[in-house]
Amino acid sequence: MIDPEKFVGEAVGRLREEVPGRAIIAASGGIDSTTAALLAERALGDRVRALFVDHGLLRAGEVGRVSEFFRASGLRFEVLHVADRFFASLSGVTDPEEKRRRVGEAFIRVFEAEADRFGTDRLIQGTIAPDWIESGGALRDTIKTHHNVGGVPADSKLRLVEPLRDLYKDEVRAVARHLGIPEADRQPFPGPGLAVRVVGAVTPERVRRAQVANAVVEEEVERAVAAGTIGRPWQYFAVLLPVRSVGVLGDNRVHGEAVSVRIVESVDAMTATAMEVPRSLLARISERVTRELSGEVVRVLYDVTDKPPATIEWE
Ligand code: XMP
Repeated sequence: MIDPEKFVGEAVGRLREEVPGRAIIAASGGIDSTTAALLAERALGDRVRALFVDHGLLRAGEVGRVSEFFRASGLRFEVLHVADRFFASLSGVTDPEEKRRRVGEAFIRVFEAEADRFGTDRLIQGTIAPDWIESGGALRDTIKTHHNVGGVPADSKLRLVEPLRDLYKDEVRAVARHLGIPEADRQPFPGPGLAVRVVGAVTPERVRRAQVANAVVEEEVERAVAAGTIGRPWQYFAVLLPVRSVGVLGDNRVHGEAVSVRIVESVDAMTATAMEVPRSLLARISERVTRELSGEVVRVLYDVTDKPPATIEWE
């Protein structure tokens, strides 16, 4: 385990060496990039611009929640609203790896344009050790391409600066505490966002369905946790499936899509167990999802698969 105070001093020194002029930083609202952003601000002051990308693949209300978190952390930031660009680059794509690649590329193009405007070629990222290890680093084969690693194509003039790349999660948490970042009881959320929770085509309409279903799962699970009905899961979310099945709406038969609910327990996301939850919780989720997405989603399934053999996300 590192000494946070010593690490901060060294990281600030290294950032000043690596960034002679200005830099932009990709802030996702997660603990890693928020920690990297605050380190960068400490090292570079006004020479750094923290950017939060609203790519249209975020959960409902997320821009507001993340902005609040940045304010509580003391980070100065800007929000870039670029959903159109991301939907255009995902148009017609259904392959999971290709989705990640396109999202990663769209991120890079957005950051290139912003870097140009700010007069820099340095992009600071909150990459931590498990990110590159899982993306085909020294120790493991590629499982999924994490969008924030290896996402800078050879032709990009952006140069990555990664102040946290040797840290593990518990070490980042210690540094974050030291920097005064509030403890957030938030679950992990994949960088490519709802693009990987919408199996099949990524359209604004399907993403909206995933937003509604994810909000229901989050609200109902959090209610059950607060009531002491279940312990806090590692992750809990909904995945929209491109499966057409028959439902009834009033006197009519309708064809709607399906939603799979995923609630898992895990320690480090390397392995996970599908949580045994009360039937009444699943019933409430099913009732709300099919009512709030009436005619659009007609079936709700509970995913009972552990990791391995499945991954936590569907894509
Ligand atoms: P899987 O689905 O591989 O996910 O079991 C392991 C953990 O990583 C999260 N995840 C991601 N995080 N960028 C990220 O920053 C990504 O591209 C990404 N894909 C998956 C996932 O939510 C789980 O916590």
